[in-house]
Amino acid sequence: MPKQSNTTFICQSCSYQSRKWLGKCPECGEWNSLVEERVVSVKKGAGRNNFRMREAQAVPYTEIESQDDVRISSGVTEFDRVLGGGIVPGTLVLLGGDPGIGKSTLLLQVADKLSASGAVVLYVSGEESERQIKLRGERLGVQAPNLLLLPETNLENIFREIERLKPAAIIVDSIQTTFSSEIESAPGSISQIREVAAQFLLLAKTRGTPVFLIGHVTKEGSIAGPRALEHIVDTVLYFEGDTHSSFRLVRAIKNRFGAVNEIGVFAMTERGLKGVANPSAIFLSTHGDPVAGSCVLVTLEGTRPMLVEIQALVDSGGPSPRRLSVGLERDRLAMMLAVLHRHAGIACFDQDVFVNAVGGVRISEPAADLAVMLAIQSSLRGKPLPRGFIAFGEVGLAGEVRPAPRGQERLREAAKLGFSVAVVPKANAPKRPIEGLTIHTVERIEQAIDLARSL
Ligand code: TYD
Ligand code: MG
Repeated sequence: MPKQSNTTFICQSCSYQSRKWLGKCPECGEWNSLVEERVVSVKKGAGRNNFRMREAQAVPYTEIESQDDVRISSGVTEFDRVLGGGIVPGTLVLLGGDPGIGKSTLLLQVADKLSASGAVVLYVSGEESERQIKLRGERLGVQAPNLLLLPETNLENIFREIERLKPAAIIVDSIQTTFSSEIESAPGSISQIREVAAQFLLLAKTRGTPVFLIGHVTKEGSIAGPRALEHIVDTVLYFEGDTHSSFRLVRAIKNRFGAVNEIGVFAMTERGLKGVANPSAIFLSTHGDPVAGSCVLVTLEGTRPMLVEIQALVDSGGPSPRRLSVGLERDRLAMMLAVLHRHAGIACFDQDVFVNAVGGVRISEPAADLAVMLAIQSSLRGKPLPRGFIAFGEVGLAGEVRPAPRGQERLREAAKLGFSVAVVPKANAPKRPIEGLTIHTVERIEQAIDLARSL
């Protein structure tokens, strides 16, 4: 009898397993994502690390201490904000982002600030040598004597050092380069990533040490094995932003200890990342006079309202016109064009339509709909919206304009920044007038379009 093969094909996106190779993953629908990996059943206790959980015992709910008061400040205010108000002990955080966006920089700065108080912080790097990290550190003005660098990729060796040093915080740069010798598949494969993350989770929980894992984003825009990792870790943070502009956003897309979609705003400078405490107006471009195809949106990112300019360009297209969006969902754009046609009589079927959220910010909330549609109609007509104009509101398929959460806050922020005219959903009308802001409320998209034309 032939020896049974001990390799299996694993989807690198959702970790679906199959005995034979498949072109398309039946679980998540991804193409070409199945990779052959060797599976080794791990012998119980054999050479594994010592971070085993205590034997479980049920505890009365009322006797469990609340964790919120024990958050530690990372020393970087904007980073604390995305984490939900500081670092929770024993938490496992995944920080993802494109290469070169600033992941190593941010966590080196955090490590520096954390260790300034005397705590030992271990920075494990499989990506760069000590000298390279030192070089970066010199630019950042890092001087921490308690910051220890470990250029190592082997998980068992890393754990041995952790056992010896007992650091107060651990940074792993990156999860893709770290591998366990217990698993035979290649570093960076889904089995390795999952094993490494699971081991660090166990370590974080048993020792109460916060662990930060840096993860690269694959070209498809997700951390390799995203679903497999996102449910293991406590918090998932993503770097966003345009590498060409100096602004960087760090967004919490999952947080067991805080609000999701909370963002931290940074500017990349010569000396590292600097927090931007008041980011409301950085995503506006500076036009002297109002231009056609531009509409300012007040978006609510986490707990902070922010003003973002939405730009649209509608131009006569060829036989198959293009719809392109940057920073906004493309499917949603197609839907909005259909709503504009059906309910407001604005036809773009023979036009190329491009929309862009200025500054590389990604907008996921539907409250952007109204601003996008007004920008499109403004570009199509070649007529700018009035000076100091803002809009927000979700638009439904039936053409109705639905309220956005926390409308008053958005309006107040716009007024504070000197905006003077607003078109908002009826249900977002403030109870008392807001000084300096003329507010028009609408219930339907055609009403909003008519209003914008008459202003
Ligand atoms: P880095 O943190 O190495 O990116 P990642 O770890 O996400 O791949 O950041 C690299 C970029 O940041 C690089 O293009 C140089 C720039 N940078 C600055 O502009 N100022 C600085 O002080 C530092 C350290 C980096
Ligand atoms: Mg790096």
